[in-house]
Amino acid sequence: MRPLLIAPSILSADFADLGADVAAMMAAGADWVHIDVMDGHFVPNISFGAPIIKAIRKATPKLFDTHLMIAPADPYLKDFAEAGSDLISVHVEAGPHIHRSLQAIRALGKKAGVVICPGTPAAAVKPVLDMVDLVLCMSVNPGFGGQSFIPSVLETLRDMRALIGERPIDLEIDGGVTPENAAEIVRAGANVLVAGSAAFKGGRAAYGANIAALREAGEAGRR
Ligand code: DX5
Ligand code: ZN
Repeated sequence: MRPLLIAPSILSADFADLGADVAAMMAAGADWVHIDVMDGHFVPNISFGAPIIKAIRKATPKLFDTHLMIAPADPYLKDFAEAGSDLISVHVEAGPHIHRSLQAIRALGKKAGVVICPGTPAAAVKPVLDMVDLVLCMSVNPGFGGQSFIPSVLETLRDMRALIGERPIDLEIDGGVTPENAAEIVRAGANVLVAGSAAFKGGRAAYGANIAALREAGEAGRR
Protein backbone atom coordinates (compact mmCIF):
# COMPACT_ATOMS: atom_id res chain seq x y z
CA MET A 1 0.00 0.00 0.00
CA ARG A 2 1.29 3.49 -0.81
CA PRO A 3 2.07 5.77 2.15
CA LEU A 4 -0.60 8.11 3.47
CA LEU A 5 0.64 11.67 2.88
CA ILE A 6 -0.60 15.08 3.99
CA ALA A 7 -0.07 17.93 1.51
CA PRO A 8 -1.01 21.38 2.87
CA SER A 9 -2.15 23.83 0.18
CA ILE A 10 -0.21 27.06 0.53
CA LEU A 11 -3.20 28.93 -0.89
CA SER A 12 -4.22 29.18 2.77
CA ALA A 13 -0.76 30.23 4.02
CA ASP A 14 0.39 33.68 5.15
CA PHE A 15 1.42 35.31 1.85
CA ALA A 16 3.14 38.15 3.71
CA ASP A 17 5.59 35.68 5.25
CA LEU A 18 5.29 32.74 2.89
CA GLY A 19 8.73 31.15 3.20
CA ALA A 20 8.62 31.06 6.98
CA ASP A 21 5.03 29.81 6.97
CA VAL A 22 5.88 26.94 4.60
CA ALA A 23 8.92 26.05 6.73
CA ALA A 24 6.75 26.06 9.86
CA MET A 25 4.15 23.82 8.24
CA MET A 26 6.73 21.30 7.10
CA ALA A 27 8.42 21.32 10.51
CA ALA A 28 4.99 20.59 11.98
CA GLY A 29 4.94 17.23 10.19
CA ALA A 30 3.45 17.79 6.74
CA ASP A 31 4.75 15.61 3.90
CA TRP A 32 4.38 17.58 0.64
CA VAL A 33 3.90 21.24 -0.26
CA HIS A 34 0.77 21.58 -2.43
CA ILE A 35 1.07 24.63 -4.68
CA ASP A 36 -2.08 25.95 -6.37
CA VAL A 37 -1.39 27.99 -9.50
CA MET A 38 -4.46 29.80 -10.88
CA ASP A 39 -4.71 31.98 -13.98
CA GLY A 40 -8.10 33.72 -13.79
CA HIS A 41 -8.98 31.99 -17.08
CA PHE A 42 -9.18 28.22 -16.53
CA VAL A 43 -10.45 29.02 -13.03
CA PRO A 44 -12.15 32.22 -11.83
CA ASN A 45 -9.30 33.32 -9.55
CA ILE A 46 -5.63 34.31 -9.79
CA SER A 47 -3.07 33.07 -7.26
CA PHE A 48 0.65 33.20 -8.08
CA GLY A 49 3.20 31.93 -10.56
CA ALA A 50 6.66 30.41 -10.93
CA PRO A 51 8.68 33.23 -9.25
CA ILE A 52 6.86 32.62 -5.97
CA ILE A 53 7.62 28.91 -6.17
CA LYS A 54 11.28 29.69 -6.83
CA ALA A 55 11.34 32.02 -3.82
CA ILE A 56 9.98 29.43 -1.37
CA ARG A 57 12.08 26.56 -2.75
CA LYS A 58 14.71 27.25 -0.09
CA ALA A 59 12.16 26.92 2.73
CA THR A 60 12.10 23.09 2.66
CA PRO A 61 13.60 20.11 0.83
CA LYS A 62 10.22 18.32 0.83
CA LEU A 63 8.35 17.54 -2.40
CA PHE A 64 6.82 20.48 -4.26
CA ASP A 65 3.48 19.31 -5.67
CA THR A 66 2.49 21.94 -8.24
CA HIS A 67 -1.19 21.88 -9.26
CA LEU A 68 -1.60 23.92 -12.43
CA MET A 69 -5.06 25.42 -12.89
CA ILE A 70 -4.02 27.25 -16.04
CA ALA A 71 -4.89 27.05 -19.73
CA PRO A 72 -2.85 26.65 -21.76
CA ALA A 73 -0.35 24.86 -19.51
CA ASP A 74 2.27 23.66 -22.00
CA PRO A 75 4.02 27.03 -22.63
CA TYR A 76 4.73 27.36 -18.89
CA LEU A 77 5.77 23.82 -17.91
CA LYS A 78 9.48 24.60 -18.22
CA ASP A 79 9.12 27.65 -15.95
CA PHE A 80 7.39 25.61 -13.25
CA ALA A 81 9.98 22.84 -13.53
CA GLU A 82 12.90 25.28 -13.28
CA ALA A 83 11.27 27.07 -10.33
CA GLY A 84 11.66 23.90 -8.27
CA SER A 85 8.54 21.79 -8.74
CA ASP A 86 9.14 18.08 -8.19
CA LEU A 87 5.75 17.00 -9.47
CA ILE A 88 3.61 18.96 -11.94
CA SER A 89 -0.08 18.20 -12.44
CA VAL A 90 -2.25 19.35 -15.33
CA HIS A 91 -6.02 19.17 -15.77
CA VAL A 92 -7.56 17.00 -18.49
CA GLU A 93 -10.10 19.82 -18.91
CA ALA A 94 -7.43 22.49 -19.55
CA GLY A 95 -6.75 21.63 -23.17
CA PRO A 96 -7.05 19.09 -25.97
CA HIS A 97 -3.58 17.58 -25.58
CA ILE A 98 -3.20 16.06 -22.12
CA HIS A 99 -0.97 13.31 -23.54
CA ARG A 100 1.45 15.89 -24.91
CA SER A 101 1.49 17.84 -21.64
CA LEU A 102 2.36 14.71 -19.64
CA GLN A 103 5.11 13.79 -22.11
CA ALA A 104 6.52 17.30 -21.74
CA ILE A 105 6.55 17.12 -17.92
CA ARG A 106 8.39 13.79 -17.95
CA ALA A 107 10.81 15.14 -20.58
CA LEU A 108 11.65 17.95 -18.14
CA GLY A 109 12.67 15.27 -15.64
CA LYS A 110 9.73 15.84 -13.31
CA LYS A 111 7.02 13.59 -11.93
CA ALA A 112 3.76 13.99 -13.86
CA GLY A 113 0.24 14.23 -12.50
CA VAL A 114 -3.15 14.37 -14.17
CA VAL A 115 -6.14 16.13 -12.57
CA ILE A 116 -9.90 15.86 -13.02
CA CYS A 117 -12.61 18.25 -11.84
CA PRO A 118 -15.62 16.92 -9.86
CA GLY A 119 -17.77 16.73 -13.01
CA THR A 120 -15.31 14.57 -14.95
CA PRO A 121 -15.45 10.76 -14.76
CA ALA A 122 -12.45 8.67 -13.69
CA ALA A 123 -12.37 7.02 -17.13
CA ALA A 124 -11.19 10.32 -18.65
CA VAL A 125 -7.63 9.56 -17.49
CA LYS A 126 -7.57 5.87 -18.41
CA PRO A 127 -5.58 6.33 -21.65
CA VAL A 128 -2.78 8.19 -19.86
CA LEU A 129 -2.45 6.15 -16.66
CA ASP A 130 0.85 4.63 -17.75
CA MET A 131 2.30 8.15 -18.15
CA VAL A 132 1.63 9.48 -14.66
CA ASP A 133 3.00 9.31 -11.13
CA LEU A 134 -0.13 10.80 -9.59
CA VAL A 135 -3.83 11.23 -10.26
CA LEU A 136 -5.57 14.14 -8.53
CA CYS A 137 -9.34 14.10 -8.07
CA MET A 138 -10.74 17.54 -7.28
CA SER A 139 -13.44 17.41 -4.62
CA VAL A 140 -14.44 21.07 -5.09
CA ASN A 141 -14.73 23.13 -8.26
CA PRO A 142 -11.20 24.51 -8.50
CA GLY A 143 -10.52 28.18 -7.89
CA PHE A 144 -10.91 28.81 -4.18
CA GLY A 145 -9.94 27.40 -0.81
CA GLY A 146 -12.49 26.90 1.93
CA GLN A 147 -15.25 25.19 -0.10
CA SER A 148 -17.23 22.11 0.97
CA PHE A 149 -16.29 18.58 -0.12
CA ILE A 150 -18.51 17.28 -2.95
CA PRO A 151 -19.62 13.76 -1.87
CA SER A 152 -20.10 12.32 -5.39
CA VAL A 153 -16.31 12.42 -5.74
CA LEU A 154 -16.09 9.44 -3.35
CA GLU A 155 -17.48 7.28 -6.15
CA THR A 156 -14.99 8.82 -8.60
CA LEU A 157 -12.20 7.91 -6.17
CA ARG A 158 -13.39 4.30 -5.96
CA ASP A 159 -13.55 4.10 -9.76
CA MET A 160 -10.09 5.65 -10.03
CA ARG A 161 -8.61 3.27 -7.47
CA ALA A 162 -9.91 0.34 -9.52
CA LEU A 163 -8.55 1.79 -12.77
CA ILE A 164 -5.12 2.41 -11.22
CA GLY A 165 -4.91 -1.20 -10.02
CA GLU A 166 -1.34 -2.18 -9.14
CA ARG A 167 0.32 0.72 -10.96
CA PRO A 168 2.77 2.78 -8.81
CA ILE A 169 0.51 5.86 -8.83
CA ASP A 170 -0.45 8.12 -5.93
CA LEU A 171 -4.15 9.03 -5.72
CA GLU A 172 -4.61 12.55 -4.38
CA ILE A 173 -7.76 14.34 -3.26
CA ASP A 174 -8.05 18.13 -3.12
CA GLY A 175 -10.81 20.35 -1.76
CA GLY A 176 -12.76 20.47 1.48
CA VAL A 177 -10.70 17.76 3.20
CA THR A 178 -11.05 17.78 7.01
CA PRO A 179 -10.44 15.37 9.90
CA GLU A 180 -14.19 14.66 9.75
CA ASN A 181 -14.18 13.28 6.18
CA ALA A 182 -10.58 12.05 5.82
CA ALA A 183 -11.37 8.46 6.87
CA GLU A 184 -14.06 7.90 4.23
CA ILE A 185 -11.85 9.58 1.62
CA VAL A 186 -8.99 7.19 2.39
CA ARG A 187 -11.42 4.26 2.48
CA ALA A 188 -12.47 5.25 -1.05
CA GLY A 189 -8.85 4.91 -2.17
CA ALA A 190 -6.99 8.20 -1.77
CA ASN A 191 -3.49 8.16 -0.23
CA VAL A 192 -2.51 11.84 -0.57
CA LEU A 193 -4.71 14.36 1.25
CA VAL A 194 -4.47 18.02 0.23
CA ALA A 195 -5.75 20.41 2.88
CA GLY A 196 -5.76 24.20 2.83
CA SER A 197 -8.12 25.52 5.48
CA ALA A 198 -7.90 22.45 7.71
CA ALA A 199 -4.08 22.55 7.73
CA PHE A 200 -3.52 26.28 8.23
CA LYS A 201 -6.39 27.20 10.54
CA GLY A 202 -5.44 28.63 13.91
CA GLY A 203 -2.00 29.88 12.86
CA ARG A 204 1.44 28.35 13.37
CA ALA A 205 0.85 27.17 16.92
CA ALA A 206 -1.93 24.90 15.60
CA TYR A 207 -0.16 23.38 12.56
CA GLY A 208 1.21 20.33 14.38
CA ALA A 209 -2.19 19.42 15.80
CA ASN A 210 -3.93 20.11 12.48
CA ILE A 211 -1.61 17.77 10.57
CA ALA A 212 -1.81 15.10 13.26
CA ALA A 213 -5.62 15.23 13.20
CA LEU A 214 -5.72 14.80 9.43
CA ARG A 215 -3.20 11.96 9.54
CA GLU A 216 -4.98 10.11 12.36
CA ALA A 217 -8.31 10.41 10.59
CA GLY A 218 -6.79 9.21 7.35
CA GLU A 219 -5.07 6.26 9.03
CA ALA A 220 -8.42 5.31 10.61
CA GLY A 221 -9.73 4.84 7.06
CA ARG A 222 -7.11 2.16 6.51
CA ARG A 223 -8.07 0.09 9.54
C1 DX5 B 1 -8.78 24.65 -5.01
C2 DX5 B 1 -7.37 24.26 -4.67
C3 DX5 B 1 -7.23 23.54 -3.37
C4 DX5 B 1 -7.67 24.35 -2.19
C5 DX5 B 1 -7.85 23.46 -1.00
O1 DX5 B 1 -8.84 25.15 -6.29
O2 DX5 B 1 -6.86 23.40 -5.67
O3 DX5 B 1 -5.93 23.04 -3.17
O4 DX5 B 1 -6.77 25.35 -1.90
O5 DX5 B 1 -8.31 24.24 0.05
P1 DX5 B 1 -9.35 23.70 1.11
O6 DX5 B 1 -8.71 22.55 1.79
O7 DX5 B 1 -9.56 24.87 1.99
O8 DX5 B 1 -10.59 23.28 0.35
ZN1 ZN C 1 -4.87 22.11 -5.47
